[in-house]
Amino acid sequence: MEKLRIGLIGCGVISDIYLKTCQKFEILEVVACASLDIAESRAKAAQYGIAKYYTPEEIFSDPEIDCVLNLTIPAVHAKVSIAALEAGKHVYSEKPFVTDLADGAKILALAKEKGLCVGNAPDTFLGGRWQTCQKLIEEGVIGAPTGAAAFVGTHGVERHHPNPDFYYQPGGGPLLDLGPYYLTAMIALMGPVKRVCGFSRKTFDTRMIESQPRHGEIMPVDVDTHVSGMLEFCSGAIGSITASFDIWDSETPRLEIYGEKGTLCIPDPDPVHGANNFDGEVWYRTRETSRWSYQPRVQGLENWQVAENTHGYNENSRGLGLVDLAYAVRGSRPVRASGEMAQHVCEIMTGILESPKSGEFWVLNSSCATPAALPEDFPNSEA
Ligand SMILES: NC(=O)c1ccc[n+]([C@@H]2O[C@H](COP(=O)([O-])OP(=O)(O)OC[C@H]3O[C@@H](n4cnc5c(N)ncnc54)[C@H](O)[C@@H]3O)[C@@H](O)[C@H]2O)c1
Repeated sequence: MEKLRIGLIGCGVISDIYLKTCQKFEILEVVACASLDIAESRAKAAQYGIAKYYTPEEIFSDPEIDCVLNLTIPAVHAKVSIAALEAGKHVYSEKPFVTDLADGAKILALAKEKGLCVGNAPDTFLGGRWQTCQKLIEEGVIGAPTGAAAFVGTHGVERHHPNPDFYYQPGGGPLLDLGPYYLTAMIALMGPVKRVCGFSRKTFDTRMIESQPRHGEIMPVDVDTHVSGMLEFCSGAIGSITASFDIWDSETPRLEIYGEKGTLCIPDPDPVHGANNFDGEVWYRTRETSRWSYQPRVQGLENWQVAENTHGYNENSRGLGLVDLAYAVRGSRPVRASGEMAQHVCEIMTGILESPKSGEFWVLNSSCATPAALPEDFPNSEA
């Protein structure tokens, strides 16, 4: 199958895992990379054997590039994606898709007009853990989903990220940063959402960078850093999400899905294997194995059944959504980590953050198709 030639814009922290994933799949060839800092682009090109290092503008004008991989910071995602589409290139972007819903609508309309594909992170829902959840739901193990609860509580990124400023500026914050993993997984498993509401707050006006090399610098915080939202799915199921940069620790599972016949649980409060990753176990309980309310609470695995995971991609495989997009382009089929789903997620997040200002529910304008399950032998069956 003809390769999809990729031009990367944004050679920062997350680019390494993408470049490693790209090297594993024959359908992808990264032909050029760019960032604001030409020295950073040159170093990345040398490290991964990429033929050309560029300024961002040169990526758009290179006719050898079929698709732009947009790994810039949230505030410039839309600008880069629009420029890529205007230059006639497919685009796959990091999350959040956009920080302004009008930009998202423009990106989707432009892609449609030009016959180009738009894909977007997160692609973690294509990982083994999530595909196992999809299989269990499709097999009816928990019956029809009736509810879901997502939780991601951290104390921010300033202890590990070298340049954490953008996480505390518009376009950042815990919901826009971490919410897409949980909301995308919920939509992929339970379908689109009808309306949302929420509450949010900012706990600290400034935060100190604790990572190197900028240890001790004080950053302003211009976004809310503790957010809770409620969701009503089109199916009638009800969901909740809490995303926070103000929580030191928690024992709450990362995601649970409640069904008419049982419960699916994404356990482990360990942030390394949290639900914003590809790997980890799936637990479930049904009527036969559930606890009576007066039974003592038992921590851990007791009574939970661990689902057999028969799917691939149980390690960090960020970029798998781009691989899927490449096969979608070549095979003229829908993209799984689609721009439409990313826009729907962005509208849900916008609604959660806006509803407390108006005191009203946010009724969703956008919707999306539920992505098909990833074949167990992906990508072999695509060839
Ligand atoms: N760091 C992580 O652990 C992580 C994890 C998942 C997703 N992400 C997402 O990946 C994206 C990038 O994050 P990062 O941590 O790699 O950031 P980073 O700050 O390390 O790198 C950002 C890159 O974007 C480039 N850039 C910035 N503005 C630009 C512009 N106007 N035009 C062209 N290039 C520009 C910079 O030169 C740099 O190369 C963000 O959207 C983030 O949400 C990051």
